[in-house]
Amino acid sequence: MNDTFLRACRGEKTEYTPVWFMRQAGRYLPEYQAVRSKLTFLELCKTPELCTEVTLQPIDIFGFDAAILFSDILIAMEAMGLTLEFHEGRGPVFPDPVRSQAAVDRLIVPDPEETMPFVMETIKLLRKELKVPLIGFSGAPFTLATYLIEGGSSKVFLETKRMAFQEPVMYHNLLQKITQCTSLYLQAQARAGAQALQIFDSWAGVWAPHDYARFALPYVQSIITDLRKMTDIPIIYFANNGSTLIKHTITAGADVLGLDWRLNIGDAVQMVGDHAVQGNLDPIALFLPKKELEQQIKNILDDARDAKGYIFNLGHGILPQTEPEKARIAVDAVHRLSAQ
Ligand code: CP3
Repeated sequence: MNDTFLRACRGEKTEYTPVWFMRQAGRYLPEYQAVRSKLTFLELCKTPELCTEVTLQPIDIFGFDAAILFSDILIAMEAMGLTLEFHEGRGPVFPDPVRSQAAVDRLIVPDPEETMPFVMETIKLLRKELKVPLIGFSGAPFTLATYLIEGGSSKVFLETKRMAFQEPVMYHNLLQKITQCTSLYLQAQARAGAQALQIFDSWAGVWAPHDYARFALPYVQSIITDLRKMTDIPIIYFANNGSTLIKHTITAGADVLGLDWRLNIGDAVQMVGDHAVQGNLDPIALFLPKKELEQQIKNILDDARDAKGYIFNLGHGILPQTEPEKARIAVDAVHRLSAQ
């Protein structure tokens, strides 16, 4: 069993720096495309044997030190009673956006084991196969809410911010319901066998810090407080584009803070106190020539040397256009350059 990832999360010493990539199971891999070509993305997410297969692919191919459950943050929103579609080239779509108190009231807080048995089944299958730790995950309530309120992806988040500013009670009711759902969902993943949990707050960085502190952070804190009552597995909080929010994100209650590439990781380490850190190579650095890519990896490893615990990752998900060979070069470089 390779437990370097879990030890780094806890701030313990490791023989080398563990590495995994956000979205490491996905479209940049021909092996994933081959599985995915036979069914839709949502069908794939609901077929435990195939979820297990695509979760294992990057571990077997590149030797990552942790696996992340193959699923999607929006699966749990479908379980709340909403229609979810994935449109080729456009991403997720909720045809009936949540923009009224009546729509909020219609949402259910589902029993995760009953409504998403395929997720728990995938976790159990994976635990039988894996020799590296398994990370479960969810979206953060604010990030999930943006998809529900906007009806899909967005650039300026007008409808979401407008609800927060003009209908704060409705916004709070919606976020509370999503929080309850997410809290139960992550607890169920831990019970099923997830060995760490990551909360993805992909859009946290669109807030001014003082609004992040009232419209996003409290819901993350609430989920982590609930989790601490039932499990001591490491919790990672990734607030994308969150360099300006660190003063707040360190109060979320997570063990590990995920960092995007917009901040030097050495500067981040100075700001995060007792937390372990995870990150933060620009995903597009994987398009650099080999020598320069390796140099950027070395710089990050050097800059992160004083971290309490450190896990190498990209600053956001790997892009579908990435050459798989570059992932191999990066994983090998992290292992070689950090070994002591
Ligand atoms: O390997 C892994 O990291 C595990 C699987 C995973 C997926 N989505 C698979 C996926 C994880 C952890 C996610 C999280 C997720 N999903 C986030 C948070 C992380 C982030 O990137 O900020 C968000 C915002 C979503 C919502 C989502 N799902 C979008 C916006 C899209 C479409 C955009 C795109 O990349 O096409 C998805 C689809 C999706 N989720 C795919 C995969 C492999 C592509 C679907 C396909 O195969 O067609």
